[in-house]
Amino acid sequence: MDQQREFDVVLFGATGFTGKLVAEYLYKTYGVGGELRWALAGRNQAKLEAVRTDLIAAGGTTVELIVVDSMDQAAMNALAARTTVVCTTVGPYALYGTPLVAACVAHGTHYCDLTGEVQWMHRVINEYQTAAEASGARIVHTCGFDSIPSDLGAFYVQAQMHARHGVYAQQVKYRVVKAEGGMSGGTVASMMNMMEEVKADPGIGEIINDPYALDPVNMPRGPDGPDQVAPLYDAQFKQWTAPFVMAAINTRVVRRSNALLGYRYGSQFRYDEAILTGAGPVGYMKAVAVASGTFLMMIASAVAPLRNLLKSALPAQGEGPSPETIEKGSFVIDLLALHPTDASKNLRARVTADRDPGYGATAKMLGESAVCLALDELDAGGGCLTPSTAMGMALINRLVEKGGMTFEILDQS
Ligand SMILES: NC(=O)c1ccc[n+]([C@@H]2O[C@H](COP(=O)([O-])OP(=O)(O)OC[C@H]3O[C@@H](n4cnc5c(N)ncnc54)[C@H](OP(=O)(O)O)[C@@H]3O)[C@@H](O)[C@H]2O)c1
Repeated sequence: MDQQREFDVVLFGATGFTGKLVAEYLYKTYGVGGELRWALAGRNQAKLEAVRTDLIAAGGTTVELIVVDSMDQAAMNALAARTTVVCTTVGPYALYGTPLVAACVAHGTHYCDLTGEVQWMHRVINEYQTAAEASGARIVHTCGFDSIPSDLGAFYVQAQMHARHGVYAQQVKYRVVKAEGGMSGGTVASMMNMMEEVKADPGIGEIINDPYALDPVNMPRGPDGPDQVAPLYDAQFKQWTAPFVMAAINTRVVRRSNALLGYRYGSQFRYDEAILTGAGPVGYMKAVAVASGTFLMMIASAVAPLRNLLKSALPAQGEGPSPETIEKGSFVIDLLALHPTDASKNLRARVTADRDPGYGATAKMLGESAVCLALDELDAGGGCLTPSTAMGMALINRLVEKGGMTFEILDQS
């Protein structure tokens, strides 16, 4: 905590679909006038006031509002100077995010966001890693459903493997047991913008498809290849598996964590993600259906006329899943860590949360990331970090104690 600064956390993008959920989470969990000094920021005063009115409908203490446009570099600098952490849901990040990162890096202000835009993270790392190390700013992308269950899940199961058996697993398999929820217009816009960037510059396609796209430059690459695209049988889980669309983001983040940790899990560490679809012919047919659906979606978003059709069928910016969908949603993820020499010592971890993964649960994950960066004693220095390398166990503890998430070891196989 930096008492010299007016706020611990400023939530930027508080008027958006996800931003409102994060504001609700912070208000419900930390209130106003307590241990956390926080404010709401956005580009539109009237919309910000409406968000605040909804929050304090019961007439509670007021939350300060800050009106700023993300494209105004001077305003971003002034914002970054006032707070210990900026937590942002202003996306697509590739379009609106860079001036804020530049401001946070310049002012030594910690930063967290929800981006899944690998091409933009790659640019940010190349441009700001050295300056962030020098200023002490911790720049942490992917603090939502992508990639906290992956990155903290892998970190957790590896810590358990080391504590119990004195070694790290050279391979971790992430498997989606259940993920029920919806999609918002902001997520659709970010995906579509990425496809438009690929069309304008095919080099960006190469970055997105590179399994080590987020690793530090000139570092050795590991053995992982392309993400799964077809049904595969997983003998250890004894089920069929289908491609998981978010693997294209999460796997890069987990591999960057291993690199930033000095290859703690080994230079030959392997990590992959997939959806469990069940055993037998039914499991196989489900895997075929999910793989085909994912493939068709990728084709539709890559081809311009189909992309426009898809956009019109999906939620617009500012829209997202209904309150019922958010409330009823949840996720269950299993991570299997393979012991290097003795399969009887393999460990299976489970990470769970209630509420829609991308929105209700993401609001907790992003909110707690911001509070963790602001209030907790962390070992990490500045740089473009990942959730686990910036916050590690401190964030897991917060997500369990404040957010009701679970991280546990299920069994030994
Ligand atoms: N990783 C995950 O699990 C996850 C989950 C959810 C969302 N996301 C990502 O989070 C981002 C937001 O998604 P969303 O659905 O919440 O989007 P959204 O509803 O469209 O909200 C976008 C927000 O950005 C603000 N904004 C846009 N341009 C701005 C500018 N120039 N200056 C200041 N503010 C600006 C909007 O302000 P106005 O209200 O004034 O228009 C709004 O508050 C997307 O990139 C999405 O992919 C990721």
